[in-house]
Order: sequence, then C-alpha cells, then structure tokens
Amino acid sequence: MANSRVSGFYRLSVEERLNLIAKESNLSEEERKLLVGLTPFPIKTSNSMIENNIGLMPIPVGIATNFKINGKDRFIPMATEEASVVAAASNMARTAYKLGGFFTSQSGSIMRGQIQVVDIPDPYAAMARLYEKKTELLELCNAKDPTLVSLGGGAIDIEMYVLKTTNQSMLIMHLLVDTKDAMGANAVNTMAEAVAPLVESITSGRVVLRIISNLADRRLVRARAVFSTDELGGPEVVKDIINAYEFADFDPYRAATHNKGIMNGISAVVLATGNDTRAVEAGAHAYAAGTGRYRSLTRWEINKDGNLVGTIELPMAVGIIGGATKSHPTARVALKILDINTAEELAGCIAAIGLAQNLGALRALASEGIQKGHMALHARNLAMMAGANEKDIDRIVEQAIREKDVRYDRILELTKQLQAGVPNGN
Ligand code: MEV
Repeated sequence: MANSRVSGFYRLSVEERLNLIAKESNLSEEERKLLVGLTPFPIKTSNSMIENNIGLMPIPVGIATNFKINGKDRFIPMATEEASVVAAASNMARTAYKLGGFFTSQSGSIMRGQIQVVDIPDPYAAMARLYEKKTELLELCNAKDPTLVSLGGGAIDIEMYVLKTTNQSMLIMHLLVDTKDAMGANAVNTMAEAVAPLVESITSGRVVLRIISNLADRRLVRARAVFSTDELGGPEVVKDIINAYEFADFDPYRAATHNKGIMNGISAVVLATGNDTRAVEAGAHAYAAGTGRYRSLTRWEINKDGNLVGTIELPMAVGIIGGATKSHPTARVALKILDINTAEELAGCIAAIGLAQNLGALRALASEGIQKGHMALHARNLAMMAGANEKDIDRIVEQAIREKDVRYDRILELTKQLQAGVPNGN
C-alpha cells in the first residue's frame, strides 16, 4: 500500500512528483504522457462529449498528499485553477494523519427520479392507486436497465406527496433507484420517462417533468477526523476556528463563502474524476439549506482530549462507471491514482477532502489571514505574466515576498532588472 505521507512533495519538480506518483500508482508510460499533455487529449473524444466542440481547456491537476482514509493511504488528484487549494488540503490531512486520518460512511447509493403529475381531480386517491401498483411500476422501470439490476441495483421503491402550490395541488412521485457505482442520472431519467405513461393511466393525470433530483439525500457521505490542537496553533486558534464555524452556521452570507471553500476541494476531485461538478454542487447547497436556513456543511467541536474534531455530511452523487469517468482519458488515470474500487470509496475521499479544505481555510482565516498563503503562487503567476525567464522566477518570487510587495508593477520591474543583468534584481 502506498504511503501518502510524502514530506516535501511540493518542493519536488513536476517531473519528480510525476515519477513518484507513477511509481506508486503503477502508471503506464501512456498514462504519464497523458497527464503531462504529451499525448494530446484526442479532439475526436472531446467532440463526442459535447456539441459544437472547437477545442480544449486545460486545468492543472495536483495531488493532495497525506490522506489516510479508513486506514488506507491515498493520493488524491485535484483539478483546479485556484492557488493554495491543494496545499491547504494536504497540510490539514497531515495534521489529521497523526490522529488516525479520516473515517467515512455513506447512507447508500440511492438516487431519486421525480415525476410531476398535474391535472388530477383526486390526488390523494391517485397516490393510493399508485402505491397499489408499486410492483408493476418498479418492474417496468427495472426492465429498462437489466445490467444495473444484475449488479444488485435498480428501482427499489416509490415515495409520493401532494405538493400544494399557489395555484394547484400536484402529485409528485419519487422513484428510488439504487444506482450502485454509477452516478445514475441516465438510468434514473430513462426509468422516469419509461414509467410516465403508466403513471398517467393510473392517476388520470398528466405527467410533465421526469427527471433526477440532485438533492441526493439517500446518498449522503460523511467524513470525520480529529486534528491536534497543538499542531493547529494552540487552544486560542482552535477557539477562533469554532467561532468561525459558528459564524458560518448562523449567517448565510458567511456560510456561502465557508461552503464555497469546502467545494474548492470537493469540486476539484469531482472534476478530476470526470464526475458532474454541477450535480454535486447543487446537491451540496440544497442540503445546506435543508433546515430552511442555509448553513455550514461541516461541524466543528472540541473533543474530550481538547482536540478539534470535524465532521462533514452532504449528498455525493458520483460514479466510477459510465459518462466522462470512462470516456475522459485523464479521469481514468485520476481514478487509477485514487486506487478505489467503488463509488462509495470515491465519495469518502471527496468528503475527506472537503473537510480538510474547510479546516485549511478556517485555520488561516482565524490566524494569519488567507492572503499570506496565496502570495508565493500569486507572485509566481505574476512573474510568468511579466515574461520572466524560467531560471529567474524563484528569485523574483523570493524577492517580492521578502519585500512584502506582490504587485504586478514591482514584479515586472524585478523581471526587467534581471533580464538586463542587474544582480539580485535590485
Ligand atoms: C477561497 O476560495 C475560499 C475561502 O474564502 C473559504 C472561506 O472563507 O472559508 C478562503
């Protein structure tokens, strides 16, 4: 089993990092080339993924280190354009590692398909009639996906309610489908469409929408980890982390940013593995508002030993088969690096990243502030924009950080001085 605790990973060159990951994950030469863009992502593939395709948009992939999840070390690929995200997750995972790492669980892999029925004269009686025909309705759905059924999944139940809107009462039927290792949108939507005519004939109503719900509350993932108070900077810092968490849990303006930070990590892994970032994001935010107030997706407490313990719970509709998880060559490599066998394991890794990411942000915000950590990468970016030579970039970054002056005009000045041969860029 790989050891995810790689001290100084960030100090290695891109090639050295890739060598290490390729060795640990047993990547082929082809997979390595794919990751660094030497084997181009085939336009034929992208053209079969979307319409009117004209090109590609590369996003950096980084590896979050130090993750131990349910006793197993993992390297977690993250696709993100944002600086500090991979570093923050790795740093907090390192702190968690010493106290056992992350522990995760999942409530199941059941997705909901919604069928909206309008124009029913007797919606409650119609609901009763539908329940009487449950077996027939489920059989019709399952006939649409024998493969899923053969894997132990398929439509397993129905749930219903009468929705009273301003103008009418409509019947909403939920088709509960166990989608196992698939995200499941295709399976659920196909079943919802297939069953609609029978629903109409039983209810004497008219079916309008037949579509999956992204509020996947029967597919909740949870992660938990303990972080040493001493390592986080002491009891005062931890007290302020709790203050920051309570601020988010009670104030939607803060909760939006707090949860955005969580999604920085979550969406990066969802994207790297070819899953649907919008589905996961929609589910997360709808779940955060589940009590009627938009709240924090994480909870932070101080345990009996005085250490900080964090938990996260949110819907996680991700798969490892089907869609871009299979058709996107880089997503396949990302799944290989993750070394997972089930969608549930993937969901657990994603929840762990979300928890670590949140703590990284809260710890920085409750102590030195968020900008300090951003500065080195920001300076590097500016130096590249200023046209600095590869060999000068480190010196320019060091100088700008020393001067605490990470502005484009100063970096441009330093770049020009070095190019003109002025020693030390002064
Ligand atoms: C920035 O992308 C994310 C943070 O704003 C999250 C937070 O405020 O908790 C730093």
